[in-house]
Amino acid sequence: MKGLILSGGKGTRLRPITYTSAKQLVPVANKPILYYAIECIRNAGIHEIGIIVGDTQEEIRSAVGDGSMWGVNVTYIPQSAPLGLAHAVMTAEEYLGDDSFVMYLGDNIVKDGITPLVKDFSKHTPNAQILLAHVRNPQEFGVAELDGDRIVHLVEKPSEPKTDLALVGVYMFDKRIFEAVHAITPSARGEYEITDAIQYLIDHGYEVKSHVIDGWWKDTGKLDDMLEANRIILDTLSYRMDGIADASSILNGKVDIGKGSRILRSEVRGPVIIGENCVIEDAYIGPFTSIHDDVRILHSEIEHSIVLSHSSIINIEQRISDSLIGRNVEVRKEERRPHVYRFMLGDNSQVSIS
Ligand code: G1P
Repeated sequence: MKGLILSGGKGTRLRPITYTSAKQLVPVANKPILYYAIECIRNAGIHEIGIIVGDTQEEIRSAVGDGSMWGVNVTYIPQSAPLGLAHAVMTAEEYLGDDSFVMYLGDNIVKDGITPLVKDFSKHTPNAQILLAHVRNPQEFGVAELDGDRIVHLVEKPSEPKTDLALVGVYMFDKRIFEAVHAITPSARGEYEITDAIQYLIDHGYEVKSHVIDGWWKDTGKLDDMLEANRIILDTLSYRMDGIADASSILNGKVDIGKGSRILRSEVRGPVIIGENCVIEDAYIGPFTSIHDDVRILHSEIEHSIVLSHSSIINIEQRISDSLIGRNVEVRKEERRPHVYRFMLGDNSQVSIS
């Protein structure tokens, strides 16, 4: 079996972060989302992985390399345009050959992994196996209608969903899927939908199995989902202290602090991860916060947030929460008059002040 990870797309819902970074490389608990996908497939015993790439391919290639970091073989497959998930399957046809494969959307995280599901697929060899999860906002996903265990109908982002069962971004297929992706036409949003290709398999009498997963799953395309994924992954950390904390600092709960980081006169209340060479001074770092390398947080408080590398937060009186702060960002209170807000924000930035 092979793996196929989709890592193209524009990440419009995560702008401005995605103007300068592929959405699959934004870190959750200080690790790029894409790495979770690679580990998940490798842990299921699959070592040949194709990665579909688009405009951000240089960045993806330099972050993943040849896959040897994980003991897998990675092949990059450029997609001519982001024309949908079924189009990505067509693009990978030559690479996949006659092999069955797991298709994994590079911005999805399935916390409990997919190992038993891959085993089950290999044992029973249906033509396709899909994963479903109960969600609160089914209109934002592909939605399944079941009759008992049998899938009857799949609809992509219906405005009036008939069930709350969303298609998780992990699919298993045998070579019949190629017949399906070639038979379908683009949807109203102009994409070749994998949902339509699976519906084709159902309509043509192929066997499509489904599993409702009860573990936790997240499509991290939006800020809130990203923060939630961060929260859940941070909760699985264990204590590690490779930096320095002075005697007046308090570290509580699961904290993971990297080499060369200094915590001075501060409180860090886990779960929190702090990367390498950070300075945390007269500050409070609250639960569910990931701070990447070379960040400075001075005289400020932050919780439930992600801060990317080389950024600084200085003298901010009100606690920062629910935020994603990019690289090389500076957020600072100026002492000089007049007391005004001064902004230099990239396109599509969002600032909330109360
Ligand atoms: C895609 C699929 C959708 C699926 C979702 C899972 O949506 O089209 O069926 O439920 O991934 O993450 P997209 O994120 O491309 O809008």
